Amino acid sequence: MDMKDTAILAIESSCDETAAAVVVNGRDVKSNIIASQIDIHKIYGGVVPEIASRKHIEKINQVVDEALSVADMRLKDVDAICVTYGPGLVGALLVGVGMAKALSYAAGRPLVGVHHIEGHISANYIENKDLEPPFICLVASGGHSHLVHVLDYGEYEVLGRTRDDAAGEAFDKVARAIGLGYPGGPKIDALSKEGNSDAIIFPRASIEGAPYDFSFSGVKSAVLNYMNGCKMKGEAYVEADIAASFQKAVVEVLVSHTILAAEDLGISKVAIAGGVACNSGLRRAMSKACDENKYRLFMPSPLLCTDNAAMIGAAGFYEFKKGVRHGLDLNAIPNLPLGG
Ligand code: KG4
Ligand code: ZN
Repeated sequence: MDMKDTAILAIESSCDETAAAVVVNGRDVKSNIIASQIDIHKIYGGVVPEIASRKHIEKINQVVDEALSVADMRLKDVDAICVTYGPGLVGALLVGVGMAKALSYAAGRPLVGVHHIEGHISANYIENKDLEPPFICLVASGGHSHLVHVLDYGEYEVLGRTRDDAAGEAFDKVARAIGLGYPGGPKIDALSKEGNSDAIIFPRASIEGAPYDFSFSGVKSAVLNYMNGCKMKGEAYVEADIAASFQKAVVEVLVSHTILAAEDLGISKVAIAGGVACNSGLRRAMSKACDENKYRLFMPSPLLCTDNAAMIGAAGFYEFKKGVRHGLDLNAIPNLPLGG
């Protein structure tokens, strides 16, 4: 740590991961601690908000302590406390926000609230030290599917968003229908490798007049209808073929809309973010499309795609540098919009 370095203690608790990290100058991750609740929620087939809040309150102190100790720092060594304050599950968010306020007050360090999607986007800065805005970022997670024009640090224009289900939500619902369990994304991804992605043609939805928007409820219903149709006819279906064909349909839409946005805006840098950015089919197809178009593609490692606090520390650093400060009256905002 240099005198002029800025160390951020970041906290994330918007869904089912209790996470804390120490990040220096927005890109240098000193620690990144994640306590996942997946084992509890998978019993119920999805995230149970009430249980998520309770588990966060059990884990949060331990996770923050560990983030500081792994970074070999004390609370007084950090320059600011950054925390996700939306969007997300309100009870879950409140645990992180409450903790961040207490730490900010105790240490006498500024409090900076961070937008969860801004965190996902900023995960790209961590492993790509030379990445700078402007770029196009596809954010696809369990709660969001956004196509974002990153104009500058902390400045975003949302070009498109989903009209119904998020991409990850569609993965989770289809996985549940096939009987794969929660979270579905990684399981569909794995099963797809054994299937034929051209076996069944599922719909690729686009919305008239809104070329960057998404809709995934149609493809999800088509999968359910296909399975019901087979059952009614007494025909067997191949789960791996369904998984591979569904994944291909979703990936094609995600890639084509992203490339269209880059083309239309004349931007040659493309990034992906969010849990669905772990998807091997998406990573492969987006790499191919970017190669063909001579675009530079940025993809965080899988651990930085799913929810974590290092990404909040990266985003928080740029907000802190811009002078953003929140008071001790900061509240959780479950539907916080990105870019105003
Ligand atoms: O970003 P994230 O951890 O949490 C939210 O902000 O929602 O994303 C979780 C989502 C889940 O829907 C999960 O099924 C999906 O990301 N996901 C994947 C993969 N890994 C996680 N979807 C497709 N393929 C994957 N490999
Ligand atoms: Zn997320």
